[in-house]
Amino acid sequence: MCGIIARVGRDDAVDTLLTGLENLEYRGYDSAGIAIKNGTGLKVRKCSGEVDALKTGIDESPTGSGTIGIGHTRWSTHGPPTDENAHPHTDTTGEVAVVHNGIIENYATLKADLEAEGHEFESDTDTEVIPHLIDEYRRTTDDIETAFRRAIADLEGSYAVAAIVDSDEPGSDSPDGDSPDEEEAVYAARRGSPLVLGLGSEEWFLASDIPAFLEETNDVIYLEDGDVVVLEPEGYRITDLEGTPVSRETDTVDWDPEDAGKGEYDHYMRKEIHSQPTSLANTIEGRVADGEVDLEEFPAGAFTDVDAVQFVACGTSYHAAMYGEWLLREANVRTAVHRASEYDSSVGPIDEHTLVVAVTQSGETADTLAAVREAKARGARTVAVTNVVGSTAAREADDALYIRAGPEIGVAATKTFSSQSVTLALLTQRIAADIPDAEPIDDLDVMLESLSDLPDQVETVVETSRADELAERYLESRAFFFIGRGLGHAVALEGALKFKEITYEHAEGFTAGELKHGPLALVTEATPVFSVFTGGGDEAVQTNATEAQSRGAPIVTIAPDDHQAVGTGDAHLSIPDTHPVWAGLLANVQLQLLSYHAANELGRSIDKPRNLAKSVTVE
Ligand code: F6R
Repeated sequence: MCGIIARVGRDDAVDTLLTGLENLEYRGYDSAGIAIKNGTGLKVRKCSGEVDALKTGIDESPTGSGTIGIGHTRWSTHGPPTDENAHPHTDTTGEVAVVHNGIIENYATLKADLEAEGHEFESDTDTEVIPHLIDEYRRTTDDIETAFRRAIADLEGSYAVAAIVDSDEPGSDSPDGDSPDEEEAVYAARRGSPLVLGLGSEEWFLASDIPAFLEETNDVIYLEDGDVVVLEPEGYRITDLEGTPVSRETDTVDWDPEDAGKGEYDHYMRKEIHSQPTSLANTIEGRVADGEVDLEEFPAGAFTDVDAVQFVACGTSYHAAMYGEWLLREANVRTAVHRASEYDSSVGPIDEHTLVVAVTQSGETADTLAAVREAKARGARTVAVTNVVGSTAAREADDALYIRAGPEIGVAATKTFSSQSVTLALLTQRIAADIPDAEPIDDLDVMLESLSDLPDQVETVVETSRADELAERYLESRAFFFIGRGLGHAVALEGALKFKEITYEHAEGFTAGELKHGPLALVTEATPVFSVFTGGGDEAVQTNATEAQSRGAPIVTIAPDDHQAVGTGDAHLSIPDTHPVWAGLLANVQLQLLSYHAANELGRSIDKPRNLAKSVTVE
């Protein structure tokens, strides 16, 4: 996936575009570029590497100023991360510049046709066909907007595209060199890739995500598939592909511009781990009343027609989905959790009584969206549990339930895991209350009461954690193992994913009982085993930890201080006492900090780990 930004205003666009790209870098950081329209034509600056490299290049040799521009930060799909493959891409005349997020499926055919017409290509990307197509249609009409629409109509696949065109002769009559009827505009369109319009004061933005322009405005319009937008200094127009005006609602997001920055922290990940007391409080707010779950999206009776629930998700979201699945199993509801990339016709019978819950922070993960579409095609009812309002999952699923964690910029998901898990815990109890024969958790009132303590308990963990000492102590290890049972298994898998993702060290999570069925062969004194105790199946976890310990492995217990397992291990990470459903989330905060400190000691690129991007919009 990639990040795009466009901006039209009255003052210089360069700094705004660069700041926007920095805030979008979580979407990809292989290469970056901007194009500015000014009186002397289009100025394009792009390079492989992060936005910092682009900024350094611009500081050393300024691009020139201009009030209209587009920018891009890339996660490569077609072609390696080279200067040539970086966006913006231009046509042969250098008068059309385009940034694109998505995949143009018919680019090979389009490219062959354009080459036959004399267009010369410089990159390996699918995107490069777009500026050439716009240029080709420019030869048949004087109207740039029409040429843009015709080019977009030729594209198959997914796209969020923004283009600028400079067709004037330098040095013509107007003060800025533009011919008097020259259109000062950004042209944009979306289908299948996110694009949000930001409404500033006398300036307009388009971006893949809100943090790109959050420092300038909170007023946004979520564009829909098929929308074409023209941004001009006077304002914006939204139409369909044929040019018929469409009306879209303006939303005001209550995110703070601070949410898009690192604040006092060295890394977004650290900031996001520390912000969990706040994000969790937002997740919970207004969703528990009188000892019951109270979801305004799903009032009592909303699930009476449901007889089975499937969860689909990827990565960290899959681990949160495991939480949901475990809780529904306990509630005697027919349920399963699927890796979204494996969700196909082999998942067994599905009908209108099947509820498919897609768990996705971004709401844009291609594998998860494919699973939602498969489920819908087979008649299931769908719910998206997501963080991003107006995301594709939220729009395509029958209903959306927002986790309200606020923007997450670090590529490694942290605060969204805890908010997803809490949201799913609430949703599962709401579902169980509606389904005949299902049984919400016995001590639901106790569970919900302790939920109100969770934000403060997370605060205690982040303030008192000794994960930094343990990260240092075990840094030279050969591999890192994480074990737990029940909900603790989900946490063990998540702990290992986080660890490998940002330290690049070998880490594996297991359900504790499986250790002895093979993985134990890997255990030595150089493989610490982090054992998660959640208050469910703890004796068995302790037995399994002891089996590893007697083969020399250092054992780190993650449990309340007075837990019987604590003295038996070699080291301990403390969590406050709580209901077993929430204990794993506290343990997970310790593991997040462990990964963070280990990666920091190793000097890794914590917020932008190698080869990864925050949401993966390709299958
Ligand atoms: C890991 C991580 C990924 C995502 C996964 C799904 O830290 O962030 O594993 O969880 O790519 O992304 P979403 O939740 O956006 O669908």
